[in-house]
Amino acid sequence: MFTWKKGVALVSMVLLGLSLAACGSQPSATNQPAKDKKLVVGFAQIGAESEWRTAETNSIKETAEKLGVDLKFSDAQQKQENQIKAIRSFIAQKVDVIALAPVVESGWETVFKEAKDAKIPIILVDRGAKVDESLYTTFIGSDFIQEGKNAAAEMAKLLNNKGNIVELQGTVGASAANDRKKGFEEGLQAFPDMKIIKSQSGDFTRAKGKEVMEAFLKSDGKNIQAVYAHNDDMAIGAIQAIEEYGLKPGVDIKVVSIDGVKGIFEAMAAGKANVTVECNPLLGPQLFDAAKKLAAGEKVERWIKTEEGIFRADTAKEVLPTRKY
Ligand code: AHR
Repeated sequence: MFTWKKGVALVSMVLLGLSLAACGSQPSATNQPAKDKKLVVGFAQIGAESEWRTAETNSIKETAEKLGVDLKFSDAQQKQENQIKAIRSFIAQKVDVIALAPVVESGWETVFKEAKDAKIPIILVDRGAKVDESLYTTFIGSDFIQEGKNAAAEMAKLLNNKGNIVELQGTVGASAANDRKKGFEEGLQAFPDMKIIKSQSGDFTRAKGKEVMEAFLKSDGKNIQAVYAHNDDMAIGAIQAIEEYGLKPGVDIKVVSIDGVKGIFEAMAAGKANVTVECNPLLGPQLFDAAKKLAAGEKVERWIKTEEGIFRADTAKEVLPTRKY
């Protein structure tokens, strides 16, 4: 039999049911729609061996902050094993995209396959890796072979096509070292009277560049007309060694290097270095643009190239204040 009490209870139950249904259709704080989710990117950096590397790290951190990307940053202290550990930890954390600057070219197959199995795209930043192309999505960075060729052409102008060169190579096994060497040697083929008389790794650092240049000067002294350094930091180290040896860098021994950091512009402005072939480290914007597209399931170009120039001593003073790194 219908009573007022039963009627009120029934109406209350219906109202409660309706309000629960309405709540269920709203996104709750813990169940945000995918489009509002922060992009999570893991970046396995090599270390901080050069002015260039620091500029790259800053560009990546600043861009992530500006775009509101959750960046998981790891510094491998120049060790591949640390980069591999970092990638495994990014996989375990289920990041959206993994990016890395591979310290050396080889030895990445296994860990890249692990990322692929976990459906996490890999982006190579600034240095290449010798792996099957299906294991990474894109390479963002420079044409290191072309940089080496440009350095050879500049060297030929400085030496009037003739002279002995010593070479300071980058980190052994790094794409930046292998390709800059290859490009330079290819470029020299057009100049049979220009020869590399000594070549050794200075590990992309000032201290090592200085140490190796000291050894070159000790063994070959005044027989050296020029130094080709795979990066500006090693060239700056070599400049110190040349001065301590009692010769004038940029005059007695020509100095050509790669990167375009402020330090080498200062050296060029002081007449101690001759040419730098630019290699742009400000890759943050391109990295996160690609990462965003990949996370949204879009395709990106296989090689995202950066724009670069060649700078000589005669314009260094004027250009220096405009340099961003
Ligand atoms: O991979 C790019 C190279 O690495 C830069 O030329 C050098 O300065 C850096 O350490």
